[in-house]
Amino acid sequence: MAALPLRVTGATRRFRDRGHQLTVFESLDLEVQDREIFVLLGPSGCGKSTLLRVIAGLDVLDEGTVTLEAGDHGRDVGIVFQQPLLLPWLTVTENVSLGLDYRANQGARQDGAVEAILAEFGLSELAHAYPDELSGGQAQRVSLARTVVTRPRVILLDEPFGALDPLTRRTLQQWLLGIQQSMGLTVVMVTHDVDEAVLLGDRVALMSPSPGRISRTWQFSREARDPAHLAATRDEVLRAYGEVAPSLAPSTAAMPAI
Ligand SMILES: Nc1ncnc2c1ncn2[C@@H]1O[C@H](COP(=O)(O)OP(=O)(O)OP(=O)(O)O)[C@@H](O)[C@H]1O
Ligand SMILES: [Mg+2]
Repeated sequence: MAALPLRVTGATRRFRDRGHQLTVFESLDLEVQDREIFVLLGPSGCGKSTLLRVIAGLDVLDEGTVTLEAGDHGRDVGIVFQQPLLLPWLTVTENVSLGLDYRANQGARQDGAVEAILAEFGLSELAHAYPDELSGGQAQRVSLARTVVTRPRVILLDEPFGALDPLTRRTLQQWLLGIQQSMGLTVVMVTHDVDEAVLLGDRVALMSPSPGRISRTWQFSREARDPAHLAATRDEVLRAYGEVAPSLAPSTAAMPAI
């Protein structure tokens, strides 16, 4: 399998809103390598979700191209959103199986595939539970399982842990790193959390707004993730983030006295 599952070239997306034309991003290029976690980081409104939606085929570009390599079973891409979007009347097993029921994914159906993914994701004991019996973190793992079970070539995650409390979020970040490595997944993940980006990314691309562009990219080596290096890079990324979104940078003004 070639080493370039996803390539975006010269991507431009414009929206027309009440007579105004908004260029969300323009002439944007990116390439995602096999089995990497590519993190798109950027301030609110810079076009991260729009770009993921375009890659997922849920929206179209005005200019440019998206090239996706098909997966083992012809499925090229799967997407997970901030909310798990599980069907409340189906059990965990049934929700995960759902991804395989679509005709496009029939090739990925194999005996025991759902059970195997539930085991891999630590969900076997919840196989017969319904969504309203799950915690937010468990529900999001089920949502990821539903996508991964179809074995897409690239998995797109749009702030998948954004709705979770900080502790659950940290646990799931570590868990995601584990399954990404054990299953060899190729992941494009959107976040505006610098810590999350630096913790998870093999590469982190910072998007600047109006129009959205990739202003800078950092590469991390999994082997050389020593805490001092991560902390230094995190500060560098935070500074760069402050430069692309000055209004969102932490204020240096004195806090009002209480
Ligand atoms: N269907 C649409 N019609 C008009 N404008 C849109 C549409 N979808 C997105 N936009 C606009 O495009 C811009 C980028 O939106 P997008 O959701 O991609 O940002 P984002 O980087 O994901 O932000 P956040 O971090 O808040 O999720 C915003 O100004 C948004 O209002
Ligand atoms: Mg978004």
